[in-house]
Amino acid sequence: MKLWEGRFDAPTAKNADLFNDSLPFDKKLWSVDIAASIAHATMLANCGIITAEESNLICGGLNAIADDIAAGNLEIAGAEDIHSFVENELVKRIGDAGKKLHTARSRNDQVATDFRLYARNAFDSLTESLVWLVESLCDRAAEGLKYIMPGYTHLRKAQPMCAGHFFNAYSEMFLRDLDRVRASRERGNVMPLGSGALAGTSYPIDRDITCELLEFDRPCENSLDGVSDRDFAAEFLFDCSMIMSHLSRLCEDIILYSTEEFGYFEIADEYSTGSSIMPQKKNPDIPELMRGKTGRVYGHLMALLTTIKAIPLAYNKDLQEDKEGFFDAEKQTINSLNIMAEMLPAIKLKSERMAEAAEAEFCCATDVADYLAKRGVPFRTAHAVTGKIVRDCIASKRTLQDMTAEEYKKYAPEFGGDICDVVSAQACADARTSYGGASAASVKENLKSIKKRLKEYSL
Ligand code: ARG
Repeated sequence: MKLWEGRFDAPTAKNADLFNDSLPFDKKLWSVDIAASIAHATMLANCGIITAEESNLICGGLNAIADDIAAGNLEIAGAEDIHSFVENELVKRIGDAGKKLHTARSRNDQVATDFRLYARNAFDSLTESLVWLVESLCDRAAEGLKYIMPGYTHLRKAQPMCAGHFFNAYSEMFLRDLDRVRASRERGNVMPLGSGALAGTSYPIDRDITCELLEFDRPCENSLDGVSDRDFAAEFLFDCSMIMSHLSRLCEDIILYSTEEFGYFEIADEYSTGSSIMPQKKNPDIPELMRGKTGRVYGHLMALLTTIKAIPLAYNKDLQEDKEGFFDAEKQTINSLNIMAEMLPAIKLKSERMAEAAEAEFCCATDVADYLAKRGVPFRTAHAVTGKIVRDCIASKRTLQDMTAEEYKKYAPEFGGDICDVVSAQACADARTSYGGASAASVKENLKSIKKRLKEYSL
């Protein structure tokens, strides 16, 4: 039965129904829809709009429906949307009292309320998964404190660093995501219920009662905006997009570092895949797929932004398009976060190879220039002198470590016998003790701070 069929002479065409119905995807909202209806009925009785007996019947009926759905004893089907389904089912079970549930309410404020309740849980799931991932990164960073690896700019070796620095960098990104998710959840925790179709209601409702029952921070202050605001959903999609962007960077680094060419990481068999034709292959399909899913999540953000663009006030059916992309982004992002958290401990850090790579390709050149600068040579001059040393080394197929102190002295009198101690990857990494730098000491401080900040989010 349609909720609105009284005004119509003819039923809708079958294909129009198929096109219009949202039940196939909004049935996910069943539990929040029932929770919001229970709060609404309780408030109606408190305000004397329906009797306590009617409210009890309604709430009992709704709870029974929830129990049946949860137990798998009630199939959600045969209605236009989840709101119609629950109401029809209620009327089937308790009769006329059920027909009073929709007093002082419209599906417009109902769906907006349901969706915000759903989004609130989705924000909490993101938080939980982000916390797990950062914990996982912290474990790897702690192990990495003992190792050094090259850091890169332009994907060219740049300077040696403590390997923990790499993992902490990702923790910082995901901590920003945690902060963003918390702020979005807070901004979105405003209740549209009581906005009616668009203009509020003439019944003596008390929105503070429903607000408290549903644990919203406050009722929205403008009914037109209340029924049509989907900013919270767009923010959720942006938060997911940013998370996927961070994950895609981590995936890319894992893929790259686990190649034969780099060889810093080895992904365990449990998280690798093979080739149907090339027997030797071990492929990083999991991080590749995750990197690929980033585009899909960005797509959902762009789709919703486009849908809500230029929507006239207040509710328009376009807004039904707010859900499917949201649900998919939620699923893809949470799955990705969880699988990354699970896979990280299964990545072996090949410390010897990382250390060897940090020593090569003149990674210590900055420190040679700094050595001179610290002894009074203007940095620009020191840079030029070191550049010449590097050039000569390349021509003679030698490294900075092959050079003797005497040879260094020929380039600048400021070079002393201790220059040979400076040109080791370990010394270069250890020297970067500035706040936020790549020495093991600084990285240890960073890790301590990350763990402290993470505690705020542990539920
Ligand atoms: N299924 C609809 C949605 O998701 C529910 C609201 C329907 N409101 C209406 N005026 N047709 O947006």
